[in-house]
Amino acid sequence: MSERFRELIAAPRVAPSILSADFARLGAQVEEVMAAGARVIHVDVMDGHFVPPITIGPLVAGAVADVVHDAGGAIDVHMMIEAPERQIEEFAKAGADSITFHAEATPHANRTLAAIRDLGCCAGIAINPGTPVEAVAELRNLADLVLCMTVNPGWGGQSFITTSPDKVERLRPLVGTAKIEVDGGIDTDTAPSIAAAGASLFVAGSAIFGAADPAAAYQAIAQAAGAS
Ligand code: DX5
Ligand code: ZN
Repeated sequence: MSERFRELIAAPRVAPSILSADFARLGAQVEEVMAAGARVIHVDVMDGHFVPPITIGPLVAGAVADVVHDAGGAIDVHMMIEAPERQIEEFAKAGADSITFHAEATPHANRTLAAIRDLGCCAGIAINPGTPVEAVAELRNLADLVLCMTVNPGWGGQSFITTSPDKVERLRPLVGTAKIEVDGGIDTDTAPSIAAAGASLFVAGSAIFGAADPAAAYQAIAQAAGAS
């Protein structure tokens, strides 16, 4: 699981977030963006505590994982939940290729990153806009991904925080070999500056699934980000 994901993120990539997809036809929406070239599908897990909304659990993540794996892709699970260490096993069993949790959500980031890798997944640590980059400094080489939120977590369709490229630049020397993922407000306008700052995995939800033609929107954002 983790090897396929590592290969996929070796080069810059856009990861469509299904949060903004039509859930009544989720499989078809995933197939549509994968036919356009997407290989990493981003799954947002929210618990109603760390962030107010409740979204996707392991059951739906597993159903999406089957569709994505059949098409040669990987699932990027973004946990916006309290005590993420309690849930990682269920998401690994559901087919997650990478699991990212928030530094603000647990005092056990070091142990949880190691536990995610022990489950055969790539491991990611996320930070909110209000969290300083130094929060990940002691986790170097334990994480495959460092996710820098470019909006406050919880909802799709928010505006990109314009100070984010500067934050990603300050993050870059602290992440070791991990790739920098960005999430929130990514579209054809915002992707170039955050790519130039050093991000290489670009999550986009509403800019893809809110568009009239999600496949064309995916390709336009990938081009703007310099991604495949
Ligand atoms: C927000 C989620 C995002 C969301 C991004 O908390 O983590 O993944 O889907 O949505 P857009 O791209 O619409 O900002
Ligand atoms: Zn997300």
